[in-house]
Amino acid sequence: MNPNRKKHGVLSMILLIWWWLTAVVVADPQINLLNSGCSQYNVSNESAFYASLNATFSSLRAQLNNNTNTRFATAQQVTGSAYATVQCRNYLSTADCLTCFTTAVAQIRNCSAANGARVIYDGCFLRYESSSFYDQTTEPGNEGICGNQTASQPTAFSVAVKELLADLQVATPRINGFFAASKKEAVGSAGNATVYAVAQCAETVSEIGCQDCLTVASRNAEVCIPSVVGRAIDAGCFLRYSETPFFADNQTTNILPFLGNGSSSNKKAIIGGVVGGVVGAVLILAVFVWFIILRRRKPIIRGDILGATELQGPVNYKYKDLKSATKNFSEENKLGEGGFGDVYKGTLKNGKIVAVKKLTISQSSRAKADFESEVKLISNVHHRNMIRLLGCCTKGPELLLVYEYMANSSLDKFLFGERRGSLNWKQRNDIIMGTARGLAYLHEEFHVCIIHRDIKTDNILLDDDFQAKIADFGLARLLPEDKSHLNTRFAGTLGYTAPEYTIHGQLSEKVDIYSFGVVVLEIICGRRMSEVKNDPNGEYLLERAWKLYENDEHQELVDETLDPNEYTTEEVKGIIEIALLCIQSSPALRPSMSEVVVLLKSKGSVERQPPSKPAYVDTDQKKVRGDTYTSPSTASSTSNATASVSLRSLVVNVKHN
Ligand SMILES: *[C@@H]1O[C@H](CO)[C@@H](O)[C@H](O)[C@H]1NC(C)=O
Ligand SMILES: *[C@@H]1O[C@H](CO)[C@@H](O)[C@H](O)[C@H]1NC(C)=O
Ligand SMILES: *[C@@H]1O[C@H](CO)[C@@H](O)[C@H](O)[C@H]1NC(C)=O
Ligand SMILES: *[C@@H]1O[C@H](CO)[C@@H](O)[C@H](O)[C@H]1NC(C)=O
Ligand SMILES: *[C@@H]1O[C@H](CO)[C@@H](O)[C@H](O)[C@H]1NC(C)=O
Ligand SMILES: *[C@@H]1O[C@H](CO)[C@@H](O)[C@H](O)[C@H]1NC(C)=O
Ligand SMILES: *[C@@H]1O[C@H](CO)[C@@H](O)[C@H](O)[C@H]1NC(C)=O
Ligand SMILES: *[C@@H]1O[C@H](CO)[C@@H](O)[C@H](O)[C@H]1NC(C)=O
Repeated sequence: MNPNRKKHGVLSMILLIWWWLTAVVVADPQINLLNSGCSQYNVSNESAFYASLNATFSSLRAQLNNNTNTRFATAQQVTGSAYATVQCRNYLSTADCLTCFTTAVAQIRNCSAANGARVIYDGCFLRYESSSFYDQTTEPGNEGICGNQTASQPTAFSVAVKELLADLQVATPRINGFFAASKKEAVGSAGNATVYAVAQCAETVSEIGCQDCLTVASRNAEVCIPSVVGRAIDAGCFLRYSETPFFADNQTTNILPFLGNGSSSNKKAIIGGVVGGVVGAVLILAVFVWFIILRRRKPIIRGDILGATELQGPVNYKYKDLKSATKNFSEENKLGEGGFGDVYKGTLKNGKIVAVKKLTISQSSRAKADFESEVKLISNVHHRNMIRLLGCCTKGPELLLVYEYMANSSLDKFLFGERRGSLNWKQRNDIIMGTARGLAYLHEEFHVCIIHRDIKTDNILLDDDFQAKIADFGLARLLPEDKSHLNTRFAGTLGYTAPEYTIHGQLSEKVDIYSFGVVVLEIICGRRMSEVKNDPNGEYLLERAWKLYENDEHQELVDETLDPNEYTTEEVKGIIEIALLCIQSSPALRPSMSEVVVLLKSKGSVERQPPSKPAYVDTDQKKVRGDTYTSPSTASSTSNATASVSLRSLVVNVKHN
């Protein structure tokens, strides 16, 4: 055989192997699944959601495809409100990035109609939520994912990994695009080692946010040392190191210019080199320091699905801070007594004024767990007609909730209390509209339907502009499901509560709509529902409203403190009719809250069925009043027995109050 040909053959063989190796490096979308999860909540309108999600994914794909340098994209739809982000590691080719994205889409669709989900691969991550998460950096669920083999040169490798992670932590947040891929060699007495690593932050976070996230990620990845591979995942960043290269050499970032003076990596490398000599003393010291650091380190929270909860945790306040803010829960700081406990005015150290609610629910471990998940849920209720929950405190002797403070107190003070008569017609209408909007959000727009169960004028607070802010929502869910309707102190206040709930415990959002109708009547009439007019008939507000409505004399109902020039009889009739629609005895006949908003906006121009006769529970006579009221369930002797029990306990509780 010709030796030249032989040489040639070996050369082409080498070339072929080289080509094959680089081809493997180039065409690898790195779809090794690291983490995935679906939100526990499903969307309410599936068809609209899927259409919106498809449009979101198309938009993400188009952005990745559009520009060879694009490795990060966000998209959100106006309808269906799906926010989404995709990010590929920058060393992937556009084709690999798209392949990884396609895989991620197929995987994430396994979450069906969950309103939030995420998947994380070595090559890319994809996430969508019903609200924006673009500024999230480090969230519960962050974790390190380690390989199961130890590096061949553990000592030198450990040094190299720590140095490289430290450098990436410093450099990456300073690099435009928040991505860095780098390698590092360390020289050890027993052998040399090389490590390859990448760090990346979502492009929507700030430099500081990227720093924070990578600090946590480095800690998580370092736990893996001396395993040959380590990864750290979090909501806003990603970190991976490995003994073997996983990105092409020409994708390496020159991080040196971004290290600044702070880097001591060269010095550390030298220390690594001479470790053999002073190993004893230094190692003992290092182990000691490491042990201290480990002990002081905050535990890493695991188990929670990363991000897919889409719920941000509430701020956890320190008990002693709240105690001093409220002057040890002093009488002078007491704002009132709510259904779930007393409320105090507090001034935090930073001068911010808050309302602190001291809950009077049981402190069993189950109650505490329920409390924490419920608080997490309600701290995500963001609507301008809902009171913001700022945080909580679970670590002290009591469960405390911290709310934004409303200087103007509650609506009842303005209707029946010391400031009676100070609200004009327009302000009252705005309050009605705001309350309706807040409830529509709670029932239909928030991702879980929350039924308030205790809508009344005391629970509608007023801000500086006299806009309604609904308080105390979400808490009734903490009560045992089957008992809550028996206890007015906690859920439902007599007179405001729909009969089907008071008597049969049948709970639906129509319970709130009934209470809303009662509140509207009170706002217009300036009289309490429970107040009996001292006329010969001793009528309750509802009876009177219905009679006057039937006789077409609704203007009689209007609060006499109101200026008659501010309203027209048509307006009064329109709004009383809406209230009566809400108080109808059959829950099915009552409109939904979004329908109420439409009716209120239309000011009577929308055609509608006239209301049917209302029903309510009469405390004195302990029976349901209103001729058309029929039990929604088949009235058996057992349900009658329950009814009388529940009515009795209602009366007892009313007296205690
Ligand atoms: C959400 O939908 C999925 C599939 O449609 C179903 O399996 C799951 O039980 C639902 N989850 C909830 C909380 O309703
Ligand atoms: C779902 O949304 C679509 C489009 O927005 C709408 O046409 C449809 O009526 C909605 N379905 C329900 C049950 O609300
Ligand atoms: C969304 O896309 C999936 C997969 O391409 C398809 O099966 C589904 O029908 C689409 N849904 C809508 C509402 O367009
Ligand atoms: C594609 O890129 C061009 C220019 O870079 C930009 O104007 C256009 O909006 C991009 N299209 C998409 C779908 O991102
Ligand atoms: C996603 O769902 C499909 C069909 O339900 C299933 O075949 C596939 O294995 C699932 N993927 C994963 C990774 O769970
Ligand atoms: C190590 O991990 C690989 C896959 O990552 C797995 O196939 C292998 O069984 C694991 N080995 C041990 C000893 O757990
Ligand atoms: C490690 O690298 C140094 C130079 O960088 C070299 O002199 C030494 O021989 C190497 N040691 C081993 C065990 O490969
Ligand atoms: C990097 O190297 C690969 C081959 O190893 C080549 O295909 C690619 O074009 C190079 N990329 C850049 C940006 O130079």
